[in-house]
Amino acid sequence: MKKEGKSCIALFASGSGSNVQAIAEAVQTGEIPAHIALLVCDQPDAYVIKRAEQLNIPVFSFRAKEYASKAEFEQEIVHRLREAGVDFIFLAGYMRLIGETLLHAYRGKIVNIHPSLLPAFPGKDAIGQAFNAQVKIAGVTVHFVDEGMDTGPIIDQESVRMAEDETRESLQRKIQEVEHELYPRVIKKLLTEAVMEGITE
Ligand code: GRF
Repeated sequence: MKKEGKSCIALFASGSGSNVQAIAEAVQTGEIPAHIALLVCDQPDAYVIKRAEQLNIPVFSFRAKEYASKAEFEQEIVHRLREAGVDFIFLAGYMRLIGETLLHAYRGKIVNIHPSLLPAFPGKDAIGQAFNAQVKIAGVTVHFVDEGMDTGPIIDQESVRMAEDETRESLQRKIQEVEHELYPRVIKKLLTEAVMEGITE
């Protein structure tokens, strides 16, 4: 659903929400032509919820264990997304594998950011994995979501060079800086490219 020519998007997160903040700021300045209709969060105590409140983003938070199955909580999420008119989903540190129910409802319209140069280091603690492997080039990937773990088609990537004296913490800071610039840029591109316009109508 379009609101005043803008796409309605939802953000999904589980943690601190620094990417949510970066995206919301790019929406506020008009750089991203979107309306953030909903934040979906599976950790009711996560800091991202405080950020969303400050940013005036409506929140749906839930505890997975209060539902009988993934299909059940995803049905509830799909219902909330439809109600809010959402046509694109951007995962920003959402620590759950997207299941069939959501994939079926939003096929080709779910995008994720992952802190490694995929297909290297999928899954949890990608930054730690890259650091421990002592790669010379680490990085960030934005990709479409499919049924696998960080396996969907790659949309864009940016590399981060490991310094001689790099620590796990300094690498994380560098990667997050890149994320906060790359993700808003890619979202803007996706929402404004003619091919996506057709999809979101
Ligand atoms: C980011 O590094 C993102 O790439 C990964 O989870 C992290 C979320 O960080 N998927 P934040 O909550 O946005 O600060």
